[in-house]
Amino acid sequence: MKLKDGHTEVKAPSLTRRYWPVFGWPFTLTVVLVALEAACDVLQPTILARLLDEGVRQGRLDLVLTDAAWMLLVAGIGALFALSRNYFASHISLSCAARIRSDLFRKIVSRPVDKAALDDPDSLLTRLTNDITQVQNFLNGAMRIFFKAPLLAVGAILMASLLDPGLAALLLVIVPLVLGILAFTIGRGFGLFRHVQEQMDRLNTVFREFLTGVRVIKALERGSDEEQRFAKAAGNLAEVNTRALWFMTRVGPMVALLVNLGIVAVLWLGLQSAEAGDFRPGHLIAFVNYMTQILFALMMATNIINSLVRARASASRISEVLNAPGQENPDTEREETDLPHQAAGLEFHRVSFRWPGGTGDVIRDVSFRIEAGEFIGIVGSTGSGKSSLVQLACGFQHPHGGSISRPARSHIAVVPQRVNLFSGTIRSNLLWGHPNADQAQLEQAAEAAGAKEFIDGFPDGWETRVGRGGVTLSGGQKQRLSLARALLRQPGLLILDDSTSAVDSLTEAAIRTALRALPGKPTIVLVAQRIASVAQADRVLVLDEGRLIDLGTHRELSVRCEIYRDIIRSQTGWEADHV
Ligand code: CTP
Ligand code: MG
Repeated sequence: MKLKDGHTEVKAPSLTRRYWPVFGWPFTLTVVLVALEAACDVLQPTILARLLDEGVRQGRLDLVLTDAAWMLLVAGIGALFALSRNYFASHISLSCAARIRSDLFRKIVSRPVDKAALDDPDSLLTRLTNDITQVQNFLNGAMRIFFKAPLLAVGAILMASLLDPGLAALLLVIVPLVLGILAFTIGRGFGLFRHVQEQMDRLNTVFREFLTGVRVIKALERGSDEEQRFAKAAGNLAEVNTRALWFMTRVGPMVALLVNLGIVAVLWLGLQSAEAGDFRPGHLIAFVNYMTQILFALMMATNIINSLVRARASASRISEVLNAPGQENPDTEREETDLPHQAAGLEFHRVSFRWPGGTGDVIRDVSFRIEAGEFIGIVGSTGSGKSSLVQLACGFQHPHGGSISRPARSHIAVVPQRVNLFSGTIRSNLLWGHPNADQAQLEQAAEAAGAKEFIDGFPDGWETRVGRGGVTLSGGQKQRLSLARALLRQPGLLILDDSTSAVDSLTEAAIRTALRALPGKPTIVLVAQRIASVAQADRVLVLDEGRLIDLGTHRELSVRCEIYRDIIRSQTGWEADHV
């Protein structure tokens, strides 16, 4: 996904900077617990060395017993620390993920409409689910073992140096080598895993397109093409994932080889000093123990680096969304009082507009003024810019030239060209328009929108389920529900974008009559294909290729406007002097 609004210009806060103030403290506490646990681990070999070299070798049972008791005690305390950090690790990583998820969702909701239209929904979905899970896994792992690994390594090196500074010099060679390998891995792996997440987006896109277009795909018998597309996307994901994981898996054996070579060297050096007459088996065993602890720590680190690298790639994708521009409080304009809203006018002054990424202006230097309470029709051939004009009038898009004066968004209701119902009941869908509406208001709106009859016809009436798992409504029924939902808001300005195209002419005429009789007499802008739909309007606005050609009554236009007359002629049964 590209969040195309240049947010990268400012240095945006990373996920860590954003959430550290909230989760920093418990996180630090957990890391302290891990440190204490690591301290317990590194004490063990030293106690063991004493037990062997002083207790066993000198045959002193009392020393053996006390050292054994010490070892038991240290192990017990270590286990307690381990238990509590596990609890905190799960708790913190889960609540942090939940927090990020809800912040991310809030940000997506708050995206301004014109910007949000450019966001890739599939990519947002991956970010909201998979990417956050990666971060959560990393956090959990980090608090369990990621910090333990370096602590254990440092502790073991320290204790080993105290035990035998000569042998510890070996570590000065091995440890930097291993650290170099790890640093290189983190750098390279980041790019690889970012690629993996992008392929995941792609797979989601293909799958969702299949789901939403399944009828068309079946109708056009393109099922096998879709299968191929899916197989290709899945194959790509597998390929980049394999490449990334293959890169990561080479690290483990390399580290193991280095450390094991070190152990061989220690044993060899130990043997040399034994031949020189200074043989301390406990000492040697403890040192080898430290080496294995270091090996173990570094191996753990390589494992979790895998998850760190993935999480870093995911975190940057999450940050991109969190740092994208949004409106702090998209709903502040909203108020439910004073219904119906007062009728409001609309004025365009030399407005020009082009779609982001579009090739040319789709609205060109358009000026007009609609008075409060007017009923305005808009006609024009397909692609002439009617819907674009509606988007501008609602404030969903912004002109690059000229100015628009319109009422606040909460006073406008728009019935978009493409109906969008939510899964739920008919009632719940209508309540989106006005959450506090009572049954009488619902019935009134449904009546005016010509929806009451078919709603009452359903066995479940208002509780009929629509959308997923519910009844399948006809195109015209959906349009009428969408209109009823808009009417419930009792707007001051009602905009209908081709909202009765799937309704028969008789029903449509009844709806138009009802619209004119609405309480509060709102300003109505009605975009239509059929001249019949706008013939009764106070004035009609004719658009062609983004230009306002004429604005007048049906009668005036059918005399003076050539384009208007062309439209009339093209619609059989209608003549210029009809009506
Ligand atoms: N357009 C675009 N990007 C969009 C929507 C529209 O580039 N997101 C372009 C279309 O390609 C078209 C022009 O804007 O050339 C006008 O489109 P629109 O306003 O939707 O035309 P309408 O008059 O509404 O067409 P229709 O009657 O088919 O709804
Ligand atoms: Mg349109």
